[in-house]
Amino acid sequence: MTTLTPILSRNWDRPDSFTLAAYRETGGYEALRAALGMTPDAIVDLVKASGLRGRGGAGFPTGMKWGFLPKDNPNPRYLVVNADESEPGTCKDMPLLLANPHALVEGIAIASYAINSRNAFVYVRGEVLHVIRRLRNAVAEAYEAGLLGKDILGSGFDLDVVVHSGAGAYICGEETALLDSLEGYRGQPRLKPPFPAVAGLYASPTVVNNVESIASVPGIVANGADWFTSMGTEKSAGFGFFSLSGHVTRPGQYEAPLGVTLRELLEMAGGVRDGRRLKFWTPGGSSTPIFTEEHLDIPLDFESVGAAGSMLGTRALQIFDETTSVVRAVRGWIEFYAHESCGKCTPCREGNFWMAQVLRRIEAGKGTEEDVAKLLDICDNLLGRSFCALGDGATSPVTSAIKYFREEFIAGTHTPAWELFPYQRTTRW
Ligand code: NAI
Ligand code: SF4
Repeated sequence: MTTLTPILSRNWDRPDSFTLAAYRETGGYEALRAALGMTPDAIVDLVKASGLRGRGGAGFPTGMKWGFLPKDNPNPRYLVVNADESEPGTCKDMPLLLANPHALVEGIAIASYAINSRNAFVYVRGEVLHVIRRLRNAVAEAYEAGLLGKDILGSGFDLDVVVHSGAGAYICGEETALLDSLEGYRGQPRLKPPFPAVAGLYASPTVVNNVESIASVPGIVANGADWFTSMGTEKSAGFGFFSLSGHVTRPGQYEAPLGVTLRELLEMAGGVRDGRRLKFWTPGGSSTPIFTEEHLDIPLDFESVGAAGSMLGTRALQIFDETTSVVRAVRGWIEFYAHESCGKCTPCREGNFWMAQVLRRIEAGKGTEEDVAKLLDICDNLLGRSFCALGDGATSPVTSAIKYFREEFIAGTHTPAWELFPYQRTTRW
């Protein structure tokens, strides 16, 4: 039985967990002191050896990304932290920033030193003013204590950190759209390659990392790569937040080693609410193909989830019980993607809008069986033909839901979802 590994969440029970004093009481900023005594290359090697993979969803090896920065480019280097968490169901970075912002600030200082950056930016989604305030307070506390700014801890290393507020566009979580937005332009994805590591912010070498990835770095520096690899699986090392939401008795953040199963997590979370039966769930937010009861024992690591036909993504485990209309759930997600599509490329701009219309028809019992085939046809024209991951990701809930619940889509074409699932009309999900 896997147990929880409260590392980034170890202080969360303390009402003052977000303060510099509380963070320091449990060893906070000692990793930064140690890192400043190492060479930057040694830190990059340490993070490579730890096997830390990006916690923003894609799982790209963090140390390898740092190592991609070209050595011969004379431009300044930048660290950009992606805190534009917006994927439906994804809710780990915001609580982390609220409860433990100094883990990120310390991680930023270490990562910036490792990649030789003197300017770091945190791009936070605009809707979460309270999180932005808390992070800004933490940054101010760190400046005051000589942990940011000039000559950090007497090391000669200077670093400025800017906390930048987004304006509520989901697409600005895509790293290149984020960079455009940070530069003051309308946020739309750029063509890759070049990847940001080569030409990112202001066309300079830039590392873009997720909040949780950077906040995991101090622990690796303090405890070593072996400590990190002792948790998780061979190719998906370490720990991470698993965010349980929806029809679960105790929703919340469960910090556990990668490779834990949903069955184990549900046991810790009191099971599906009211003793009901699990119907379907997302392993990593709404842009990962849904799973069903048969996938309860799949280890939640990058390889196992991939081999079972989905993606680990952001470990946003949205739980839906037997009272849920899958058509209605998918319609909600597709309306989100249609609304958030940046409009740059036709398949995504038109395809999502069209799918939302078809799904609304099916949900109202006014669709036809051809509509189900039409949905799959639109997905065919979106997947691999969209400019960025938003278009591709939008197909995941549709194709996977039709794969597991085709009859429900067909039934929905002549019976409104609220007649098939009356319970849902009077309850939240
Ligand atoms: P990606 O696989 O294209 O890239 C991942 C990272 O690796 C990027 O930083 C990219 O620059 C870097 N990279 C990849 N190949 C590289 C190379 N050859 N050289 C240098 N750098 C390289 O994935 P992407 O589009 O950045 O992210 C997609 C994921 O984002 C999805 O899997 C989804 O789970 C997640 N996501 C998370 C959201 C959230 O709210 N946290 C929202 C939406 C999606
Ligand atoms: Fe914009 Fe969608 Fe195209 Fe991405 S896939 S560039 S979000 S229109």
